[in-house]
Amino acid sequence: MEASEKRLAGPQAEDEQIASLTYSILTFGCQMNYSDSERVAAVLEKTGYRRAPDDRPADLVIFNTCSIRQKGEDRVYGLLENFQALKAVNPRLLVGLTGCMVRQTSTRNSPPEKKDPLLKNLRAIDFVFRINDSHILPSVLAEAEPRLEMAGEPEFAQPGTETDYLQIEPHYSSTFQAFVPVQIGCDKYCTYCIVPYSRGREKSRPLEEIVAECRRLVEKGCLEINLVGQTVNSYGLSQLDSQSRHFDWYHQPRAVEKTTRELPFIRLLRELDKLSALGLSRLRYSSSHPRDFGRELVALHAELPTLCPHLHLPLQAGDDAVLARMNRKYTYAQFREKIADFRRAVPGAAVTTDLIVGFCGETDEQFENTVRALEELRFDQVFLARYSQRPGTVAARSFPDDVPREVKAQRWHRLNDVLRRVSLEQNRQYAGRTLEVLVERHHPTSGEVEGRSRENKLVQFPGGAELIGTLQSVEITDALEWLLRGNIQGQDK
Ligand code: SAM
Ligand code: SF4
Ligand code: F3S
Repeated sequence: MEASEKRLAGPQAEDEQIASLTYSILTFGCQMNYSDSERVAAVLEKTGYRRAPDDRPADLVIFNTCSIRQKGEDRVYGLLENFQALKAVNPRLLVGLTGCMVRQTSTRNSPPEKKDPLLKNLRAIDFVFRINDSHILPSVLAEAEPRLEMAGEPEFAQPGTETDYLQIEPHYSSTFQAFVPVQIGCDKYCTYCIVPYSRGREKSRPLEEIVAECRRLVEKGCLEINLVGQTVNSYGLSQLDSQSRHFDWYHQPRAVEKTTRELPFIRLLRELDKLSALGLSRLRYSSSHPRDFGRELVALHAELPTLCPHLHLPLQAGDDAVLARMNRKYTYAQFREKIADFRRAVPGAAVTTDLIVGFCGETDEQFENTVRALEELRFDQVFLARYSQRPGTVAARSFPDDVPREVKAQRWHRLNDVLRRVSLEQNRQYAGRTLEVLVERHHPTSGEVEGRSRENKLVQFPGGAELIGTLQSVEITDALEWLLRGNIQGQDK
């Protein structure tokens, strides 16, 4: 049997030998999950699996899940019902779950006390694994399906610490842009949020490891790197990082650290900016937490050529009492000042945010403060969410989810209407300007391509598939609510 060959062993499967088993990964949630899926894909490829062609059902389907809102979990449950039916037709199909819904790596064959509750409740799934256990996925698969003959010993070291799985070299989905995780988990404990429970405590990846991954990417032609984490600007500053040997500045007396040491995230960005000599064009990061967003980072935006003129800074609510109940630990006035500082230092930059409507106890008046904040701060784009109670969070334990569903919906629509107007007004400022666009995809039916400007604006213009992965100067002719349109400079329609 070839190294990449696998088969199902056992009398009933003898004649089912196939050249290679195929996989597909369904990814939900944030950029971190998209990046994690690229690592899971790498492990599967190393174990001999191949990505299933779009027109063929896969032998192994992995759901990389998100728990941020109930709706996301319900979507997974709904899809799994279909998989239950598919498994009745194809008993060879294996289904696994990872991501934020999973608590304990286990299979149907694990002893009851070691089984994740999902395996008890959902019959369609064969195994679950914590994303930090991605290294051991091959042995989880072998336990889930003993008839599966592995092609050989997988070459992944057993994980030592929680960030070690990030050492897996990803199977990147793009050659010209990449998500690179800088930290996992979160220590902020916003009262509504599941992330500190689903992803665990905040812990940063060693700086050298991040720089090495980025260097490899840039050497292979990557033009844009997006550093991802829940609160990237607290990179290297968490309590767990302070115990880590990777961050020697932590052992400096505070006074020394303050005067002579750069914040770890600032140092990381400076190191990565040097990769422009090898061809890196754009550096982005998301998300920042307003509490850790300071003047050093603002100044760096004005200084580093690769750092894109775009800031995603989640506000969540424009009312101080709601912010306090959310445990965000800043006031609206403090947030407004940070945005003003940023806009002064980086003229023409875009600013985007996240807002939640209908959080516990939110009154009409408090909601109106959020509407006013959107009007005043003129965000270019907003991710609007209706509050969804998450079991296990402080809010779920301590505050009643008392804003009725219809009121949440009304508030969401009201805010969305304001956003559409504000976003159109912001976009109109780009008409007549020339933006640099990194082309991401081609729409054969319209004969157009689309990509993002350095400000993270979505731009569409006439062009062919050969432009994918290139930087183009585009003259903006039209501004729509969520989109800019134009033509390549010098090429009129
Ligand atoms: N770490 C980022 C921050 O604090 O700014 C946000 C990351 S979180 C994964 C993405 C967004 O999901 C949050 O900014 C928030 O708007 C939204 N979110 C989190 N928990 C939520 C909940 N229980 N209900 C509704 N939206 C929620
Ligand atoms: Fe969740 Fe708050 Fe952490 Fe963001 S900062 S991931 S909203 S707990
Ligand atoms: Fe969702 Fe987990 Fe990200 S809960 S938003 S996938 S960190």
